[in-house]
Parts: sequence; C-alpha cells; structure tokens
Amino acid sequence: MNSNSVNTSDNQKQAYKHTTLITGGAGFIGTNLADALLTEGKSVIIYDNLSREGVEKNLQWLRDKHTANLRIEIADVRDEKALRAAVEAADAVYHFAAQVAVTTSCNDPLMDFEVNARGTINLLEAIRHSEKQPPLVFTSTNKVYGGLEDLKVILKGDRYEPEDPLIAAAGVSEARNIDFHSPYGCSKGAADSYILDYARTFGLKAVIFRMSCIYGPHQFGTEDQGWIAHFLISALEGKPLTIYGDGKQVRDILYVQDLVRAMKIAQQNMASLTGKAFNIGGGVENTISLLELLKIIEDMHGDAIDVDFGDWRPGDQKYYVSDIQKFHHEGNWTPEVNANQGIRNLYEWLAEFRNIPLTKKTYSRESI
Ligand SMILES: NC(=O)c1ccc[n+]([C@@H]2O[C@H](COP(=O)([O-])OP(=O)(O)OC[C@H]3O[C@@H](n4cnc5c(N)ncnc54)[C@H](O)[C@@H]3O)[C@@H](O)[C@H]2O)c1
Repeated sequence: MNSNSVNTSDNQKQAYKHTTLITGGAGFIGTNLADALLTEGKSVIIYDNLSREGVEKNLQWLRDKHTANLRIEIADVRDEKALRAAVEAADAVYHFAAQVAVTTSCNDPLMDFEVNARGTINLLEAIRHSEKQPPLVFTSTNKVYGGLEDLKVILKGDRYEPEDPLIAAAGVSEARNIDFHSPYGCSKGAADSYILDYARTFGLKAVIFRMSCIYGPHQFGTEDQGWIAHFLISALEGKPLTIYGDGKQVRDILYVQDLVRAMKIAQQNMASLTGKAFNIGGGVENTISLLELLKIIEDMHGDAIDVDFGDWRPGDQKYYVSDIQKFHHEGNWTPEVNANQGIRNLYEWLAEFRNIPLTKKTYSRESI
C-alpha cells in the first residue's frame, strides 16, 4: 500500500460519519437521544411530523445547540417513500414516532393503528429493502402486558403493593404473557410483535424496550401522557389536575438520561441482543404512586395542588413495576438517577423553560 492510498482511506474515514435516524426525534425521548449523539459528534437525522404539540421547541433547541450534523425531515411514518429515503441514509435507527396516548387511541383507533402499527411495518419494510439494513431499537410499552388483573394487590397507605413476594421483590418480567389492552396497547403490541418477527423471519437486527414511565427534560406532559411532567406543570402554573382512579396506582419511573444510556448500549451490543425484548424502567428501586408524587411536589413547591378524581382509564394497571434484571445482566445497565433527584431536575427544567422563577417560598432544595 503506498502513502497515497493510506491518505485516501484516512480521508474517507474522516469524511464518513455514522448516521443515526430517529423517528419521532423531535419528541421528548428523541430530543434527549439526539442531543446525546450530536454531543458525541455523531450525525443525526430527525424524522418527525411535529404532530405532538410543543415539539417544534425541542427542534429549535437542538438547532441552537448543535449547528452541525443535524438533518431534519418533517415527514410522517405513514409516508413510505419519505421513510425509505431516510432509512437509506442511516447506519442505525431508533423508532419512537407514535401516537402515544391511550385516550386518543380510544377516540380514534384507526389513526392510532395507522401510525403505530402500519407506520412500524413501513419502517421494517424500509429497513428490509435497504442496502445497509441498519439495526433498530424500538420503544414498546408495559401496556403489552395488559391490565394485570390477576396480580393481586393490597393497599399500604397511599399505594398498592403486590401480594406475590416475588413480584414485590423484582417487578414484572418479560416472562409475563402478553395481553394487549386498549387500542394503543394493541397497536404498540402489534408493532412489538412484528419487530420481533422481522428479526426472526428476515434476520433484521432489532431490540425492543418495553418501557414503563419515562420522565425528564423536554417532556411536554399532558393529562393524556407524561404524568410526572403534567403534575409538575400543574403545580408550577397553579392549575387544578384530575387523577384517574384513586391515585394509589404504582409505577416505576426512569429518568431519560438513564434510558438514553440503555439505548446506546442496545445499539452497541446488537449482535448479542438482537431479537430480544427487555422491560426497561426505574425498577423496584424507583417506584412511586400518584399520591406519593403529589406529596413530593407539594413539599418541593410549597403550595397544595387542587386535585379531583375521575374514573379509572382503560387498561390502567394498579401496580406495574418493571423487572429490569434481564437488561441489567445482558446489557450491564442499572439506572443511576434516583426518583427524588430526577423529579427535582425536571421541576427545575420546566420552571426555567416556562420562565417561572423558583422563589424561596415555592422551592427549597432541602425540602425534598
Ligand atoms: N414517555 C414514556 O413514558 C413512554 C413509555 C412507554 C413507551 N413510550 C414510547 O416511546 C416513544 C417516544 O415517546 P415520547 O414520550 O418521546 O413521546 P413524544 O410524543 O414526545 O414523541 C413522539 C414524537 O413522534 C412524533 N410523531 C407522532 N406521530 C408521527 C407520525 N405519524 N410520523 C412521524 N412522527 C410522528 C411526534 O410529533 C413526537 O415528536 C413512543 O413510541 C412511545 O409510545 C414512551
């Protein structure tokens, strides 16, 4: 090999940038992942139809922070042609674009199906027919396990706890039968099953994360999705909120930074993890009931939140905590940000983002 050819290949290496496609990349999780990858100097394509209210602000924030390596496609996952073009340019794919609310899925099951199920098959076909067949990480949901009605719970103060000591100690594992509840559960569950099958039948490289509640900066929480952010926004803006059910339902919560770390691990270890689904959340170390969250927020904020109660929503589980041991063992991953710290981080971010000053009256670090 002469010195010229060494130079050429070095130049080629320098010119080549690993490109990651993030569908739904303007959303909460997508923005956090895009920021992390761009900060590492990677090249990112965000593919998003901006249907989630407020997410254009995330795009603006990314554009302001990262002047290079960011390409934005305002497009829909139902648009097969546009999706294929984006996939052709990608070395890795994260698929987040979705209709994300159970409530909306009940109002418009067809739209929910078209975006979540059909949109995912569009993506799988685009990957299958692409030259590089980029590996895929998909965000599924704990809703694929259904209402868990057989999981007996007991009331302990402001929270439900499972009677089964094994579930109480470790949470719900991937061994649980899938049992889709609500149109959202069905459309996300169908996408989850299709992806596992494309890995099996066509050899696509893909990992599924069945996620519990994720929270953190860049989340535009509403009553329909993103309850931790929604509760915090209600407190900051002094608005009343409705709790559906009795508020004693328990979830594990995971700070988005820990999720982003897990997602990068999944891509880096695709060879051993492909074709597998993992339950991802804060696990038994980071559980909270809605009423417990209210108390934390009220202590932190200084004012009581005006709350009323509505009926339980379809498929709402009284207790869902992810057993995260499988990804802990196979991905060598553990959440690092505890619930109190993460809630405080999000509170501060929301206040800053909304220009709401945190006065001493409303906030003292020692209070949480
Ligand atoms: N946040 C959570 O707690 C959680 C829990 C379980 C699963 N998930 C899944 O994680 C993924 C990301 O969630 P998020 O919290 O970041 O939601 P998000 O609503 O903030 O982001 C989703 C993004 O997808 C975009 N989008 C919606 N429909 C689209 C379409 N047809 N074509 C292109 N883009 C479209 C939206 O504009 C939005 O920017 C979703 O698939 C969701 O189902 C999230």
